[in-house]
Amino acid sequence: MLLNRIIIVTGGAGLLGRSFCEEIIINHGICIIADLNAEAGEQTQKELQAKYANAQVHFIHLNINSKESIIELIEKLHIKFGKIDAVVNNAYPRNKNYGRHYFDVEYADFCENININLGGYFLVGQQFAAYFLKQGFGNIINISSIYGIIAPRFDIYDDTKMTMPVEYAVIKSGLLHLTKYMAKYFKGKNIRVNAISLGGIKDAQPKSFLIKYRKLCLNKGMLNPQDINGTLIFLLSIHSMAINGQNIVVDDGYTL
Ligand SMILES: NC(=O)c1ccc[n+]([C@@H]2O[C@H](COP(=O)([O-])OP(=O)(O)OC[C@H]3O[C@@H](n4cnc5c(N)ncnc54)[C@H](O)[C@@H]3O)[C@@H](O)[C@H]2O)c1
Repeated sequence: MLLNRIIIVTGGAGLLGRSFCEEIIINHGICIIADLNAEAGEQTQKELQAKYANAQVHFIHLNINSKESIIELIEKLHIKFGKIDAVVNNAYPRNKNYGRHYFDVEYADFCENININLGGYFLVGQQFAAYFLKQGFGNIINISSIYGIIAPRFDIYDDTKMTMPVEYAVIKSGLLHLTKYMAKYFKGKNIRVNAISLGGIKDAQPKSFLIKYRKLCLNKGMLNPQDINGTLIFLLSIHSMAINGQNIVVDDGYTL
């Protein structure tokens, strides 16, 4: 599906990013793991290279909060490959106080988390779009969340230390509208911008939470990273050429 496509995954060394990179390799794309964590990025690159003998997978250090870092990444890839097909905006920056309950969130932390997360997604989108404009085509996929669409169901977090952070609601809903804004802004420029809003990924959450979450879904409940791969590959491929400015929800019906 992705033969010889140059595809960057920001946060490619993380929980979802790694799964996305693996699926891009399986579909014969040329995968660029772009992550702030060089150790995890290099390790992911090594492991994927060892698992898939013919894989074309590279690691490049990236900080999505630095314009210079993004421009450097784009320049490196342009010199090496002469083109870039797509970027998956997937990194997950958050500061050390992220995830607090509503009344415990300090103004400075609220601003910082929106700045580094949504601001970073904006910056990656803006800088890649500038390159895509020059090359005449491009594809941007923003990774959003069910909590960009619906209000939190706070009761599923009862009896746990978890909550649905207020910053996350603002970041992910903002990202969905940014997706539409960008798609429309690039009218006539052959640049697509779409979003995927996914449900929660199973990752050692407390059992009580998993049970309550599952009751709100249709079959499976919390997802595995692999459950998102098909949608990602579809949006990266020519099969979705007429899809632009859209949001595809992958959540086992949680938002219904
Ligand atoms: N895990 C879930 O349940 C879930 C659910 C819905 C949506 N999402 C979304 O999926 C995306 C990925 O989430 P995840 O769970 O894989 O996160 P993760 O924390 O496992 O991975 C995030 C990666 O981003 C990298 N990163 C952090 N700051 C960076 C920066 N400034 N520049 C470049 N890279 C940076 C980290 O090093 C890490 O490798 C996020 O947008 C998240 O909101 C996740």
